This record gives sequence, C-alpha cells and structure tokens, in this order.
Amino acid sequence: MRRKIVAGNWKMNKSFAEAEDLLNELYDALEEQTPSNVDVVVCPPSIYFEMAVDFSETGIISVGAQDVSKYENGAYTGEISAQMLSGMQVEYCIVGHSERRKYHSETDAEIAQKTDVLLKHDITPIVCCGEILSEREKNIHFEVVKKQISDALFHLDPLDFAKIIIAYEPVWAIGTGHTATPEQAQEMHAFIRKTIEEKFGKEIAKKLPILYGGSCNAKNAKDLFSQADVDGGLIGGASLVAQDFVTIANAF
Ligand code: 13P
Repeated sequence: MRRKIVAGNWKMNKSFAEAEDLLNELYDALEEQTPSNVDVVVCPPSIYFEMAVDFSETGIISVGAQDVSKYENGAYTGEISAQMLSGMQVEYCIVGHSERRKYHSETDAEIAQKTDVLLKHDITPIVCCGEILSEREKNIHFEVVKKQISDALFHLDPLDFAKIIIAYEPVWAIGTGHTATPEQAQEMHAFIRKTIEEKFGKEIAKKLPILYGGSCNAKNAKDLFSQADVDGGLIGGASLVAQDFVTIANAF
C-alpha cells in the first residue's frame, strides 16, 4: 500500500499570533480526529519553523518548507539551505511550486538542483508539476507535465527517486475554486505513474506518492482521494482553517 500524505502549504499567510493559533487549533483537532496511516505535514513560512517543530514533537504533524536554496551554503543573501532546514527538523520541502516558477522564474534545472540538495540532507522533496490553462486548452498538458518531471527528476538514480513525492497542481485550479474533477486528476496521476514506470520501473512507480493540489477542500477531498492514483493532497487555502485541513486529512 502506498503512503498517504496531506500537506498544507500556508504560502505567505498568517501573522505570528495567527500562526500560533492555527497550530494550536490544528493540534487539538488532530488529537480528536487523528487520521490513521496518513502523514500530515504543515509547510508554514520559514520564520515559523521553530514554533511548528515544537508541535511536531507530538508526532501528529511533520513540518515542511515551501522552498530551499539550490546552493549548499555561502553568499546568497536571503536564502535558506537544505542543511539549515535539516538542522531545524524540517522533514519535507515543496519544490517547483507554480508560484515560484511564475514569480521567481524558477526553472526545471533549478528544481533538479534543489531536489538534489534536499536528498543530500535527508529531506523529502515534494516536487510540483502542472500545466497552465492555455496548455490544457491546447491539449498539450500531458506533454508539459512529462517534460517538467523528466527535466527535474530523471537525472536521479532509482534509489534517490524512490524518496520523492510528486504533487500534480494544475495551475488553473490553484486558488481559483476551479478544482480538477476527480476524473481529470486521476487521468493525469495515472499518466505520471506510467511516465515514472517507463523510466524507473514498475516497483518504484507503484510506490510513488502522487498528491493532488488546486482548490482541494473539505467538500471535494473525499472524491479526489478515492481515485486510484491520488495519494493525498497539497492544500493551500483550506490548510489555513484548522477544521477544514483536518477534515481533508481524514478524507481517505
Ligand atoms: P489552493 O488549495 O489554495 O488552490 O492552493 C493549492 C496550492 O497551491 C498548494 O500548494
């Protein structure tokens, strides 16, 4: 059976006091409704790692980062290295989110480098892919996603690839309320798994967790997660409301 994962990407939201409230509420709600066999991850802004890690010591949640520097260390003002994340007990890190691709011109080659530094420091990369609306309209979404994945991940050896999580986040669904239908999600997830099977073999493809992200919420999570190749979610807006996030984590 594949690992199930629900990760909350807080993006650049919440004041210090609000972040503390949200973590407290999350902790209480998760204690009451602890999802079984689901890894629950929160990815707050890095300035809140210490606070989030305190909560993660309860064992109910793990902490993830939203990004990492592609460099090991050195004169890169404003950057945070994988080694620093690891020293803070950060266990996961999102890479290649469409907002970083769009607003920070992040390329697949940089996503490959970031994946490498994370693996070197034993942090699980959650590597994002997904097409924009015009690409889906032109019916080139499979091609686009395949290229993102191959350029970012096909240099890995199979042992390292086996440590990766992929998140399919169609850009047109992010923050728009236009969730992919369960059938659209399943179709792309199955395609991703097939792409991985062709490169890394059946066993590795079978074990790869593929998360869906894009307007996934407490109402639609169950339908999405019931699809054969959807192994959980990368949740934006709904992860900022404790009860919604916990409902999603229990939606398998
Ligand atoms: P929303 O759930 O707000 O659409 O965001 C999804 C996302 O970008 C998670 O990384």
